[in-house]
Amino acid sequence: MIVAIDGPAGSGKSTVARAMASREGLTYLDTGAMYRAVTDAALIRGIDVTNSAAVSDLANRIEISLENGPEGPIVIVDGADRTKAIRTPEVDENVSAVAAIPEVRSAMVELQRASSKNADVVAEGRDIGTVVFPEAEVKIYLTADPSARARRRAVQRHGGDTAKDLSAVADSAEAAAIEAELIARDKADSTRKTAPLKPAEDAVHIDSTGLTVDEVCDQISALISKARA
Ligand code: DC
Repeated sequence: MIVAIDGPAGSGKSTVARAMASREGLTYLDTGAMYRAVTDAALIRGIDVTNSAAVSDLANRIEISLENGPEGPIVIVDGADRTKAIRTPEVDENVSAVAAIPEVRSAMVELQRASSKNADVVAEGRDIGTVVFPEAEVKIYLTADPSARARRRAVQRHGGDTAKDLSAVADSAEAAAIEAELIARDKADSTRKTAPLKPAEDAVHIDSTGLTVDEVCDQISALISKARA
């Protein structure tokens, strides 16, 4: 069984995918973490992220592995734990350029398919239902209002839990800056030539703006039960 969850940044994909993994006994695959790992590796080597040849060469040379941790994937790159390093604002700013490089994408798609072989998986990203697993039994396109998405990202940046303390967020200037950054990243991700962010034709759309994590998961569990029947 493959459950594909696509959608823009901050729509709740990671929280929902993690919750679905524990509810349904699926392996969680965070594909964004892989593009982030390549971006981080380029930044620490001083490689210009717009230099497609250098970045794709790097993407094919480094070894990325994701292990399941209690709060999300533990990201190991060439033996070093980069879990925290891949979530910095600097990586946020540069990851869309890296994810737009076709050779980087083919290397990551190969890794995603290999790590999901013979497993029951919930995978989240931008092109899971369209490119990585077009045969997925359940496809979700998760969205939310930009202001709700920015609030969630602000909570995450401060180490909070988006399922619990959405009201305890940062100042409004910070939320506004994050919202502008998310909108710019969505534009870059959805207008790129290779595997742009877009819903698969057969995806079920869920708007998570006014919903709790459990309410979103209940809808997905119902789709999984239907697919399993
Ligand atoms: O979900 P995230 O914010 O961790 O993703 C980081 C970036 O990686 C995002 O801006 C777009 C890119 N991405 C992608 O192009 N394809 C995926 N399957 C997952 C992420």
